[in-house]
Amino acid sequence: MGIKKNNKIKIYCKQKRPLVCLTAYNKHMATILDPFCDLLLVGDSLAMVLYGETSTNNVSLQTMIEHGKSVVKGCSKSIIIVDMPKGTYEVSAIVALKNAKKILKETGCDGVKLEGGVKISHTIKLLVKNKIPVMGHIGLMPQQVKHPKNYKVKGRSLDEQELIINDLKAVEKAGAFSVVIEAVTEKLANKLTKLSKIKTIGIGASKKCDGQILVTEDLLGFFNKNAKFVKKYADINSFISKAIKKFKSDVIKRKFPSKKNVY
Ligand code: KIV
Repeated sequence: MGIKKNNKIKIYCKQKRPLVCLTAYNKHMATILDPFCDLLLVGDSLAMVLYGETSTNNVSLQTMIEHGKSVVKGCSKSIIIVDMPKGTYEVSAIVALKNAKKILKETGCDGVKLEGGVKISHTIKLLVKNKIPVMGHIGLMPQQVKHPKNYKVKGRSLDEQELIINDLKAVEKAGAFSVVIEAVTEKLANKLTKLSKIKTIGIGASKKCDGQILVTEDLLGFFNKNAKFVKKYADINSFISKAIKKFKSDVIKRKFPSKKNVY
């Protein structure tokens, strides 16, 4: 039996060791990842990884809900967070609340993630008031990147550092239970983690964050993102190529299907 939703978040927030977080977009992957993870994110990165988009900006609420439903089916212990896609929460806090409720009701996930700090803190506050657990996302916010060239590290200038620190404080004050810090300098990530009362989850940030997240397909070498912050733990692409090459050869040589594979 799974752990109760509220308890999962309490356990996560009290965890002393670094938190292990990854993205998952479907039941099969969630089933593999769940035993090793504290949190699974149904990230809007699926627009790029699964749908071949050049940014995360063209994904609908319904698509996120379908993938969320699938992940929930494969997961029994990790917290499941679904990204609110661009255009579903910035317009007004009321619209955000309606969409967040729809995500939770239709997927059965544990909470939602929103990109932004000061600008959306009133929205986070309303969601939390309505008992919707919120994960923040500050630093580099992919939904705001209009051109691939603009995926740049944040927090090099003092002005930028101040803005990001203010974002952290706003997200924390609004009641988010955790926050993703993406692509900021190591020094700033360390400072943010020191300042933060909520769990900081780094991606391209620092090992001193309270946890780390990566896009699973990136670490598996299944999606060729060349960001410095990605460490490839496997080379699934060549593994697949080798298997398919063998299948092709078997088909051409009429070795497949063999006796074992026919009725
Ligand atoms: O969309 C996503 O997958 C994310 C993570 C990479 C943090 O936001």
